[in-house]
Amino acid sequence: MTRAIRVWLRALAVAWTTAAAQPLGLPPVPVPKDNPQTAAKVALGRKLFFDRRLSFNGTMSCAMCHVPEQGFTSNELATPLGFEGRSLRRNAPTVLNVAYHPLLFHDGREHTLETQVWGPLLAANEMANPSVGHVIARLRALPDYRGAFERAFDGRGATMETIGQALAAYQRSLLAGDSRFDRWRYGGEAGALTEVEQAGFRLFVGKARCAVCHTVGERTALFSDFGFHNSGVGWRRAYGAPERIRVELAPGVVTEIAARALDAVSERPQPDLGRFEVTLDPADRWAYKTPSLRNVALTAPYMHDGSLATLEDVVAFYDAGGVDNPGKSRLLAPLGLTAAERAALAAFLRSLTSRDIGRIVAGARASGNAYR
Ligand code: HEC
Ligand code: HEC
Repeated sequence: MTRAIRVWLRALAVAWTTAAAQPLGLPPVPVPKDNPQTAAKVALGRKLFFDRRLSFNGTMSCAMCHVPEQGFTSNELATPLGFEGRSLRRNAPTVLNVAYHPLLFHDGREHTLETQVWGPLLAANEMANPSVGHVIARLRALPDYRGAFERAFDGRGATMETIGQALAAYQRSLLAGDSRFDRWRYGGEAGALTEVEQAGFRLFVGKARCAVCHTVGERTALFSDFGFHNSGVGWRRAYGAPERIRVELAPGVVTEIAARALDAVSERPQPDLGRFEVTLDPADRWAYKTPSLRNVALTAPYMHDGSLATLEDVVAFYDAGGVDNPGKSRLLAPLGLTAAERAALAAFLRSLTSRDIGRIVAGARASGNAYR
């Protein structure tokens, strides 16, 4: 066999292995050249992801806001609580399929998973570490990490770079495709979706125009253009609050009080201008990143502030054309959907849950770290 043929056969074998590992409906994972995926890095990153000792007082891990059993987000809280119960201003997004996001966070302020981790590790209301060096020193002193970084990174110990690389490698391994939708559209299984779900998909790409932003390709779909759009959710939070609020005093006893009276005794929502905070371009005020809709049935509540509780609420929000405000995306307008059409859209969204979720959650929890 000539060398050329051997090289070609090896390339083909590599192509085949990647294809086999690729869940149906998902494109190849972009992996930075200086942080190739290895089993050792993924295992180390998983241990770090669940380790509460990574927070200043040993109480918070990444997995406490990105909870595996809750779609790697937090279902109970619109905006999660971090260090010592301090509240965060935004909803925790899922980290499933986060490998595909070219920009991270709702406002896209971070560029790689490798660097993103220092956001939560250092934020005073998240894991509250006083410095990068503090985290490194702590990890170096923990006996159960002895040699772990060195083994995963060719002799390099725990550094700012390797901590980011290990956590990034783990998160890049969390691929959740192969939903019933994928089997119907990309796997040739005509019966994988019900009639109603298929009608929902036709609305999604047709009359309801969802796919303009939540894109669906010919061979794969990420359900996001990864662009930033103002749908009015952020504007409503800042300005659209009603003057009077209905309050239930006792079961069945409802009264109306002035919103200002309530504001005086409750915590004010923290200001949030979305993408504008990163670009300072007035056109980006209240624009947020289009989330992927894969596994969306598992990741309630919805939108960057968690203000919509159910998929039915989200569909009703779009049916009304979002919330009008001066900078609202021109891609949004009232849709005039019937009740049956709204139900079909919601049913379609529920068909996007990966068949692998059970395996992914079990794998996440299998790590033998006693400090979770
Ligand atoms: C206290 C809760 C909390 C903790 C702890 C936490 N996160 Fe997050 N995470 C969030 C919130 C809220 C956001 C969105 C913030 C924003 O957009 O400004 C987020 C965003 C992210 C994103 C961006 C996802 C996207 O779609 O752009 C990634 C990745 C991520 N977190 C990973 C981690 C890792 C790794 C850790 C541990 C080192 C961690 N998180 C710890 C709440 C948390
Ligand atoms: C103009 C672009 C655009 C269009 C059109 C659009 N979306 Fe969105 N979608 C977004 C953006 C941006 C967000 C995030 C908004 C935020 O966080 O405040 C979002 C959020 C969502 C969410 C919440 C996901 C989560 O994890 O929080 C769902 C569900 C959703 N859209 C479904 C739909 C459906 C169904 C349609 C069609 C009826 C649709 N979208 C049309 C841009 C769009």
